[in-house]
Amino acid sequence: MSEFILETQNLGISFGGLKAAQDVNIRIKRNQIYGLIGPNGAGKTTIFNMLTGVYKPTTGKIFLDGERIDGFAQDKINHMGIARTFQNIRLFNNMSVVRNVMVGLHNLPEYKCTVWESFFRLPGHFRAEKKMRERAKELLRIFGLEEERNNLACNLPYGKQRKLEIARALATNPKLLLLDEPAAGMNPHETEDLVKTIHFIRDNFDMTILLIEHDMKFVASLCDEITVLNFGTVLAEGDTKTALRDPEVIRAYIGG
Ligand SMILES: Nc1ncnc2c1ncn2[C@@H]1O[C@H](COP(=O)(O)OP(=O)(O)O)[C@@H](O)[C@H]1O
Ligand SMILES: [Mg+2]
Repeated sequence: MSEFILETQNLGISFGGLKAAQDVNIRIKRNQIYGLIGPNGAGKTTIFNMLTGVYKPTTGKIFLDGERIDGFAQDKINHMGIARTFQNIRLFNNMSVVRNVMVGLHNLPEYKCTVWESFFRLPGHFRAEKKMRERAKELLRIFGLEEERNNLACNLPYGKQRKLEIARALATNPKLLLLDEPAAGMNPHETEDLVKTIHFIRDNFDMTILLIEHDMKFVASLCDEITVLNFGTVLAEGDTKTALRDPEVIRAYIGG
């Protein structure tokens, strides 16, 4: 077991001539809530895409709990323990709430049945389905979504769609949860509720969380450490309050 759940070394990526991220060194300890912040276009989502195997880094290394994962396929990285949510919510809109969570459970060994059992709808198939549905309901209960489990995902209010996306990510049993602007578009009440939810996940799922966020108050109330990016490079890192007071960071946000 490594001291760090996630460690990047000189991580970088270029798109044509554009260096969207360079020399990014992030170290996240077990059970931490860590923030990745910076102005629009700073390279935050690009980093999430490298961590989850959507993009292959041009330079550098990524370690998950001490194991190298850079360049691995998305599925493999998810299996190894990284789950994420997206800046623009991605749900299966025409599936029920509970089905959306079951999708996250599908690849776990405890819910596997053989192709044979599944194709011919043999008892093994129904046993696996039932177990999955129970687990999905349990997760929905935690997020206060149990009552709405049979509604279509698209009919949930915005704040609840965000929660459902988090529930689905957690269903894959990750070691590290990545949240891309989870509070974007939320009203103050929903944001406050989200802060509680994130603390709850950290404490009750024994989770490590890396989140991207714009709202400084939100970041300050959640993250003990942050990395601040601008134009793909690290401006400041470490203790949240100290990093947010850094003159370079203030300049980047206020624009000189
Ligand atoms: N697939 C891609 N092809 C070309 N440019 C990209 C691609 N993905 C991201 N970029 C560029 O990388 C930069 C960082 O984008 P992004 O990571 O989305 O920023 P952030 O999430 O910090 O707002 C932007 O200039 C964006 O246009
Ligand atoms: Mg982004």
